[in-house]
Amino acid sequence: MAMKILIIHGPNLALLGEREVAVYGKFTLDEINAALKELANKKGVNIETVQLDGEGEIVEKIGQARKEFDALVINPGAYTHYSVAIRDAIAAVGIPTIEVHLSNIYAREEFRHKSVIAPVAIGQISGFGINSYLLGLKAAINLLKK
Ligand code: DQA
Repeated sequence: MAMKILIIHGPNLALLGEREVAVYGKFTLDEINAALKELANKKGVNIETVQLDGEGEIVEKIGQARKEFDALVINPGAYTHYSVAIRDAIAAVGIPTIEVHLSNIYAREEFRHKSVIAPVAIGQISGFGINSYLLGLKAAINLLKK
């Protein structure tokens, strides 16, 4: 059976393409999802992409992913920096998780330098714009192939 990878876009990411373009780039969420779909098709894996603004919604989605998905790629947005609930959800389901960020969070305001998600993720990709997602998906696929 083909592997299934869940990709979660966190809060405010529906506004990509118009939101702080100098920081996040010109790509819309639809364009990012299309690029992810193309890569997934090429690699023969199934992906589901979802954008959720609510912390509780993200926690719920991760909980449901337990039986359905082999890996998770997540951009938790601002929740990255303080959501113990999302961190605990990832730890609870035990699905291999890759954290991605469009911007380099370590080159920005100090409050963005800390990720509470990173300790429960396999790894983090930060600062490559749309490519952070594509690298994240590739990392997830390679991980599952092992
Ligand atoms: C972000 C970085 C976060 O600090 C910010 O709150 C976001 C987007 C990124 O992709 O660069 O919403 O996760």
